[in-house]
Amino acid sequence: MFQGLEGRSAIVTGGATLIGAGVVRAMHAAGVKVTIADIDEAGGQALADSLGHGARFVRTDITDDGQVRACVAMAAERHGGVHFLVNLACSYLDQGFASPRADWLAAFNVNVASAVAMLQAVHPHMVAAGGGAVVNFTSISAHVAQTGRWLYPVGKAAMAQLTRSMAMDMAADGIRVNSVSPGWTWSAVMDRLSGGDRARTDRVAAPFHLLGRVGDPWEVAQVVLFLCSEHASFVTGADYAVDGGYGAMGPERAVAAIPQLME
Ligand SMILES: NC(=O)c1ccc[n+]([C@@H]2O[C@H](COP(=O)([O-])OP(=O)(O)OC[C@H]3O[C@@H](n4cnc5c(N)ncnc54)[C@H](O)[C@@H]3O)[C@@H](O)[C@H]2O)c1
Repeated sequence: MFQGLEGRSAIVTGGATLIGAGVVRAMHAAGVKVTIADIDEAGGQALADSLGHGARFVRTDITDDGQVRACVAMAAERHGGVHFLVNLACSYLDQGFASPRADWLAAFNVNVASAVAMLQAVHPHMVAAGGGAVVNFTSISAHVAQTGRWLYPVGKAAMAQLTRSMAMDMAADGIRVNSVSPGWTWSAVMDRLSGGDRARTDRVAAPFHLLGRVGDPWEVAQVVLFLCSEHASFVTGADYAVDGGYGAMGPERAVAAIPQLME
């Protein structure tokens, strides 16, 4: 469907989990050769095996510069360069106000600094290819306060700004950098917390998503594909909401508040 993807090479960090796997599958289906960079060996290898040719798992702790370099070198060698980078891996480490300094640094390391390390490592390959595209994962959590959460939303807000900074300084190299901000998306966390109950998850999410449900990984993946494709050739430094209308809704929610004055 999207032009400019087939035969290209992508690295997806955090590609072993539900949302990441949705991105990996969509890219693979579009003919992209995908390298899954994750610390989840079982999940990452199983996904690569299920996709077969054109998908490869490389166990990579993105907080380790040596592993980042090795992953990028392998992707470039096996897949003929690196054209796309999806910074999707994240840490949900967060004790809010009670978080010790070590947790702040650990969360920031995964959620922000490692995205920069990945870009530094892929940069020469994208330059050699005449350009590339980067998609960073931020979140609705970057824009609002959520009870008991400090580290994760701050990390995601930093990613939104980092996207603009990256876009500014990569433009001359033909590298476009954008971000996606998903709303609640059916993910490993939700699967675990709801006991696999998708209907309950949708019911909880309904009041604060205009579309009345959580998103699916493939729906987020479609926007990632668009941002990597030729169709987004004039798009850089932008944040795309894939949130079912979460960000459009105000504190009044989808409820007629004014009539309540007359009740
Ligand atoms: N779940 C949601 O509803 C939601 C909403 C908005 C945004 N997001 C964003 O979507 C992305 C995926 O979220 P998720 O809920 O699927 O997360 P998840 O915790 O299920 O998956 C994160 C993945 O990152 C990997 N990872 C963690 N640390 C790593 C490291 N040091 N090196 C390499 N890989 C590492 C994990 O193994 C895992 O596969 C994140 O960027 C998240 O912020 C999720």
